Amino acid sequence: MTSVPELRKNDTVFASLFTPLRLGHRTARNRIVHAPMSVCYGDADGFVTRPQVEHYARRAQGGAGTVITENFAVNVSGRQMPLQNLVDSEERLPGLRQLADEIHRHGALAMVQLVHAGRYAGPWDVYESRRRLAPSAVPFELTPGRTVTPQEITPEEIQETIEAFGRAAELCERAGFDGVDVHAAQGFLISGFLSPRTNRRTDEWGGDFDGRVRFALEVVREVVRRTGPDFVVGVHLMSDERADGGWTLDDSVRLAPLLEAAGADFLFGIPTTFETMRLPANDGLMGRRGYALADNTALALATSLPVVAGGGLGDPHAATHALERSHISAIALARPLFTDPDWPRKVSDGSLDAVHTCSCATARCLRTQLTGAVCESWPAETVERGYFGYGNDSYGERAHS
Ligand SMILES: Cc1cc2nc3c(=O)[nH]c(=O)nc-3n(C[C@H](O)[C@H](O)[C@H](O)COP(=O)(O)O)c2cc1C
Ligand code: SF4
Repeated sequence: MTSVPELRKNDTVFASLFTPLRLGHRTARNRIVHAPMSVCYGDADGFVTRPQVEHYARRAQGGAGTVITENFAVNVSGRQMPLQNLVDSEERLPGLRQLADEIHRHGALAMVQLVHAGRYAGPWDVYESRRRLAPSAVPFELTPGRTVTPQEITPEEIQETIEAFGRAAELCERAGFDGVDVHAAQGFLISGFLSPRTNRRTDEWGGDFDGRVRFALEVVREVVRRTGPDFVVGVHLMSDERADGGWTLDDSVRLAPLLEAAGADFLFGIPTTFETMRLPANDGLMGRRGYALADNTALALATSLPVVAGGGLGDPHAATHALERSHISAIALARPLFTDPDWPRKVSDGSLDAVHTCSCATARCLRTQLTGAVCESWPAETVERGYFGYGNDSYGERAHS
């Protein structure tokens, strides 16, 4: 890794954010993690693009200690968005290498989030045109007013998918990434297996707790098997489905030590799926400060693994408080770093007035994943360009180099 200027050694109340973080056999320079956030800057064929390299490297340049990409699909059947990246073959290596190298050049650990979208797989406008793989054929509301039914994945397809996760992790390692974050949350395929609401199988992949967690554990084992001992394997875990009859926090607490035994190096819990987030009880969840903290504290107490927690921690005081009081090892920021990649440097310097906060009521970034996201809070010229990369993108301040 090229040497880069260190963040200022600070003696402010935020100092705990800027101590090194051990993840598996790697060490990040601080405890601020860029949380996966689908911005869909890949190309139509799933390759890495230059804006995408800049987007992620810019978050490293701004001071994040670890940059986890948005979810990249492990194969075509697991792809959700038209501009989502694919990690399915050697052809992907040159772009992935550029991405890893450029993040490393700015001093951060680089990781890819790996997903199979399961029943949420796209393209949605032609949903019925091919198989959409899910543990069971349970109908659901894909978009408001539109109910669709995925197909039940076969045992052969289950095996192929486990192998696809392993192959993707191996490709990421060969491309120079420090690790991967296995996406077992938000209703995508792995979390679909965990939930009794969506997994109605009666074979070895369903039924009781042991059957429903089998797929997640097999994926993690395969990823560990296909990669070297120094490669970091994280699990993004649906901590609690927050719905009647769904996967609960107690289930996650029971699963956490099994994931550790399977070889996971860190956990990152987030509650709900895309559907259960719409339930009245979960209304406004993403707007609440520290909404995933209690779940992640429970996970941290259930294992000896480092636990990363995000969700409404854009206020530096809240982030520091969470790190110091919640048994977690690192805080994660998605929207706050999308809005202002220099959040870590500014907080390290104590320049809180310069931090641009994520404060829009409409969450424009959530609505525009299909076309590439822009943020309501960006400077006008950045909105025009469509991504916050290098160049003059710095809210009128000199970009750090
Ligand atoms: C536009 C958008 C896209 C997201 N994409 C992903 C994703 O690809 N993978 C994932 O695990 N979480 C994803 N998330 C969830 C974030 O990682 C994070 O958990 C959530 O935004 C709360 O953190 P924040 O308050 O720091 O934004 C996304 C969130 C947003 C707003
Ligand atoms: S579009 Fe809104 S919610 Fe999204 S990052 Fe920007 S300010 Fe935050």
